[in-house]
Amino acid sequence: MKVAVVTGGNKGIGLGIVRALCKKFDGVVYLTARDPERGNKAVEKLKSEGLNPSFHTLDILSTQSILDFKKYILDKYEGLDILVNNAGIAFKVAATEPVAVQAKTTLRTNYWGTKELLENFLPILKPGARVVNLSSSCGFLGKLDNCVNKEKGKIIKDKLASEALTIEDLDGLMENYVDTTAAGNHEEQGWISDSYNVSKIGISALSRVLQRDIGKYNSAPDLVLNHVHPGYVDTDMTSHKGPLSIDRGAESSVYAALLPPNTDIKGAYIWHDCQLVDWVNGPTPPMT
Ligand SMILES: NC(=O)c1ccc[n+]([C@@H]2O[C@H](COP(=O)([O-])OP(=O)(O)OC[C@H]3O[C@@H](n4cnc5c(N)ncnc54)[C@H](OP(=O)(O)O)[C@@H]3O)[C@@H](O)[C@H]2O)c1
Repeated sequence: MKVAVVTGGNKGIGLGIVRALCKKFDGVVYLTARDPERGNKAVEKLKSEGLNPSFHTLDILSTQSILDFKKYILDKYEGLDILVNNAGIAFKVAATEPVAVQAKTTLRTNYWGTKELLENFLPILKPGARVVNLSSSCGFLGKLDNCVNKEKGKIIKDKLASEALTIEDLDGLMENYVDTTAAGNHEEQGWISDSYNVSKIGISALSRVLQRDIGKYNSAPDLVLNHVHPGYVDTDMTSHKGPLSIDRGAESSVYAALLPPNTDIKGAYIWHDCQLVDWVNGPTPPMT
């Protein structure tokens, strides 16, 4: 039995991804959510549409929750065929929390939480598995060009773009961002203030490094990781300002989740309309 898992599936783009996978994927689809009540409510909604997702609790900020879910999947299915890392947070543009708080909080979920989940699940991927990480147009490397200290910003950008970037280098850069926001000198050090952008740049860089180094985690053939920009979508995160429906916003993720055997599309930055974008040099197409 094949199995797919979507994180943060109770609402927004995650719900759209679960809905589409229920229709297109020949296997069990797990809608996961940190809150069982919200999760089960979403499952009931999809069931009322004639679909049949399964549910499990999963909070990507909880090591115990990640380990419990991993054990459950291993015991029941002996591995995983599709993993969509959709769960994420964003402070509102008008948020009044200091940059240091926004940086620590946002990276904790979007970078460290996602990374912990990945590190636990990569070893149990089955041959031909597909992993999709929800990045954003905000996760384009060129967003770092908005930095104040251009010289130091370029050094950071070059490190992130490097083919030799390691997980340790990347973790160090993400830690450095949070530390410099706490010290109040992140702009002098070449960073930008928008923590969401940095968190998504981190996820995109992570996707590239993990694809390159996938053999360190799992020797199964044809394992593929990609990172996507879903478009500007009508969800709680965007205060419903995005023009795209959640089903439309799910398209690039579903495309990446269902890439055919032996695809060449690996470690790629996939836009909402499924075109491939050069993450390092761009150009980036319109956001929607
Ligand atoms: N909407 C856009 O235009 C847009 C554009 C680019 C990228 N994205 C990315 O797409 C993804 C989905 O965004 P969205 O707009 O659908 O956001 P959303 O409506 O705010 O939904 C976010 C989902 O993530 C879940 N989540 C947050 N923290 C979690 C945790 N610790 N463990 C498990 N689940 C957690 C939320 O659960 P709760 O309901 O419990 O809070 C919710 O289910 C995010 O990664 C986002 O950054 C969105």
